[in-house]
Amino acid sequence: MDIKISPSILASDYANLQSELEKCEKAGADLIHIDVMDGHFVPNISIGIPVVEALKKICKVPFDVHLMISDPLKYAEAFANAGADIICFHIESDSDPVKTVDKILALGKKAAVAIKPDTDIDGIIPLLNKLSMVLVMTVEPGFGGQSFMESTMPKIEKLRKIAEHIDIEVDGGINAETVKIASRAGANVFVAGSAVFKSDDPCKTVGILKENAANEKEKTLL
Ligand code: DX5
Ligand code: ZN
Repeated sequence: MDIKISPSILASDYANLQSELEKCEKAGADLIHIDVMDGHFVPNISIGIPVVEALKKICKVPFDVHLMISDPLKYAEAFANAGADIICFHIESDSDPVKTVDKILALGKKAAVAIKPDTDIDGIIPLLNKLSMVLVMTVEPGFGGQSFMESTMPKIEKLRKIAEHIDIEVDGGINAETVKIASRAGANVFVAGSAVFKSDDPCKTVGILKENAANEKEKTLL
């Protein structure tokens, strides 16, 4: 599976989103990770539909929209219309997962399901044939800047064994070192917020993350 870097704009300068996105584009980011929080599913509130819509007009990189919200089924269409390319919802949310995946696919978007650190992969196995990606959270969702939980790696190993051709994304605490651990476990899509936007040179950091992930993957193939 191709290695992809998905910078999370949660850690970017919200007063200058256009230039922050340009940095990602210039750096060769494969996706833009947009964290949507509703203050209900997670104890934090971030950005929503109108911001996604506005950013879509100024950025060509596909949008990887991570919905940390209750009732994602209700909002899937609005995010699709706003410009989400991948719509990722949590299996722990209260929407019916099959109906939600089918809705996202009917809207012509890629469907992904996220699991929190303490959720096992059993619930997503029946959905795998319809999903483009599974997001294994490597921190508790809700805030950027937390530490990577290595305890989530066995889930990725297990998932990679049963789903060779699916994107496995990790999100939370990814930096130049932890990206190697996650890549070794079988992840191939790496979200990074603080590591990219709080670095002196975000462009360079995206390159380092990609290179470290790729080198580690190569080692596991040897
Ligand atoms: C956390 C979000 C993450 C967050 C990651 O709930 O889903 O996408 O932005 O931030 P870092 O990379 O700083 O851990
Ligand atoms: Zn996220």
